[in-house]
Amino acid sequence: MKRIAVFASGSGSNFQAIVDHVKSGKLKANVMLLVCDKPGAKVVERAEKEQIPAFVFDPKQYESKEQFEEDILQQLRHYQVDFIVLAGYMRLIGHTLLHAFAGRIVNIHPSLLPAFPGKHAIEQALRAGVKITGVTIHYVDEGMDTGPIIAQRAVEISEDDDANTLAEKIHKIEHSFYPETIGKILEKLEVKA
Ligand code: GRF
Repeated sequence: MKRIAVFASGSGSNFQAIVDHVKSGKLKANVMLLVCDKPGAKVVERAEKEQIPAFVFDPKQYESKEQFEEDILQQLRHYQVDFIVLAGYMRLIGHTLLHAFAGRIVNIHPSLLPAFPGKHAIEQALRAGVKITGVTIHYVDEGMDTGPIIAQRAVEISEDDDANTLAEKIHKIEHSFYPETIGKILEKLEVKA
């Protein structure tokens, strides 16, 4: 069974969906670790409740990204993690982790990339007046939501949608789409020597 770490900064509804899919046997993986850069985030509570170890850190306590990523790496090695899943981790991944986990980091973004990268993708789509937006799962590189696209799902925007209703629609899709796609990727992933 592949061993994954989930990185998140906020509410962690995607973290929860992944854990729930593992618990029900729909996702064949072990969630070894939560990595969170926001002490006090709701996702930390969720990990505690699920008895999943969490590495929670405050980036301000470090001098550089290299330094906190070295600490993260140590944790990932300790738990023998094979694969990293970003789920609302609001931070660019640096070369320390990209190098150690080349081709083994994925992210989910709430738009049809390359449209609306970066923060506030849902608001960006509403402001642009597009009628279709969606969800993208992609490999992570050094850019902001720029890595190779793995899978996408479309979501229709209706006349009366606002940021809340659209976010709700998007989350609903994410919560099954992400665990299912992770499962497919893990099936093909070779375990590191
Ligand atoms: C999701 O909408 C995801 O697409 C984006 O951040 C959000 C995280 O939500 N990257 P949650 O913390 O999983 O509820």
